[in-house]
Amino acid sequence: MKIAVAGTGYVGLVTGTCLAEAGHTVTCVDKDELKIAMLKKAQSPIYEPGLEEKIVLAQRANRLNFTLDYQKAYAQADVIIVGVATPENEDGSANLQALYTVCKQIADTIETPTLVVVKSTVPVGTNDKIANYFDRLLGNRKNLIEVASNPEFLSQGTALRDTLCAERIVIGTEGGYAEKILKTMYEPFGQPILAMNRRSAEMVKYASNDFLALKISFVNDIANLCEVVGADIEEVTRGMGTDSRIGSQFLSPGIGYGGSCFPKDTKALHWLAEEEGYTLRTIQATIDVNEKQRFKLIQAARKDISSFAGKKIAILGATFKPGTDDLREAPSIPNIRLLLNEGADVHIYDPVGMINLASIFGDAITYGDSVEAVLQDADACFIFTEWKEFKAMDLKSFQQMREARVYDGRNCFPLAAAKEAQILYYSIGRQKIGGHVFA
Ligand code: UGA
Repeated sequence: MKIAVAGTGYVGLVTGTCLAEAGHTVTCVDKDELKIAMLKKAQSPIYEPGLEEKIVLAQRANRLNFTLDYQKAYAQADVIIVGVATPENEDGSANLQALYTVCKQIADTIETPTLVVVKSTVPVGTNDKIANYFDRLLGNRKNLIEVASNPEFLSQGTALRDTLCAERIVIGTEGGYAEKILKTMYEPFGQPILAMNRRSAEMVKYASNDFLALKISFVNDIANLCEVVGADIEEVTRGMGTDSRIGSQFLSPGIGYGGSCFPKDTKALHWLAEEEGYTLRTIQATIDVNEKQRFKLIQAARKDISSFAGKKIAILGATFKPGTDDLREAPSIPNIRLLLNEGADVHIYDPVGMINLASIFGDAITYGDSVEAVLQDADACFIFTEWKEFKAMDLKSFQQMREARVYDGRNCFPLAAAKEAQILYYSIGRQKIGGHVFA
């Protein structure tokens, strides 16, 4: 099948590469010259483990191309997959500008019958609006285009596995040939395909992301209560997670969810509901809990440190989760800002996020090249991301600090290990180890 993919972000690039690996001929289109130049040389503009290797193989097999020339890519394509960004507007609604621009380009270009597949996360009803938009633009040629919704469920850091071993593929169509084409396109993947109408498919995406966000906020709420009543959230989630109706995934407590999806998609669904005169109270609560959760570590540290001014603060991890260099909506960012505003001397180490960090903070913070470099003589350490490297570290390393005070937002260490290492250790939803040191 001849496939064009609009947008080479996580969704477009990973989908295009996997479809090429599955035997289709794929052309990925982007307006960003730098990205296309890199991709032509098989360099991935995003950090995603294993992706570059797959791009190389697909390019060698002559099944994966990258271009700025959308006309050439769209004109004869059987399927055009749209995976452009739908960022958040000021009011929390989804910004669909890039999506409509691509649709206009498609309408101006196509010569043969084409299925337009919307993979971008879009508010319920958008695919119907796009179908009407095409009808208006194409007039008596409107039969050339069908529109299908095909939401994406990949996570950053595990994007290839999530695509190649997906638990389900959701396709939303309104009759015509769309369902048949999508089933043929996905046949090589051998995954269960759930067919439904377009609005339901659009809702599956939001409901799935928002349910996972709700699960995280719920566990964080319970974790906060555990601290107050003397329970241990790790034991509590172990007890809850073994009930298969609950499940153990997305029950890890922490300093809240970040990234380009959950914060945006919770707000977008909440906004959409409000527009329809309905208040999604569970999602409002999810958002509220998450906002507050981000500052748990600083709140805890204030009990031990009277002022951050002039203190050396070591930060381990900044990306919104491990396995990515992405800092979008990462809880670390507002915390670093707050520490800087209060006059702290911030030293940071993240295994892959340093370049992106430098583009946000410039020379306002010090970038260490190792855990040791940032811990040396520090007054406190904050852990914002649970990179493997941190989880595996010898807790005695914290003894190089001027005061071994560790505030861990991702529960990287067992409490027994913290006790043995004789550090002050605060983590989420667990008993605090070590005494009250007011400095
Ligand atoms: C999320 C969904 O998991 C994907 O299924 C979806 O396709 C994607 O959004 C999207 O809409 O494109 P992603 O944002 O890459 O994927 O990352 P997640 O692994 O879901 O993590 C999101 C945030 O939740 C991270 O900040 C992570 O630290 C946090 N989290 C996750 C927790 O705090 N606790 C958990 O138990 C799990």
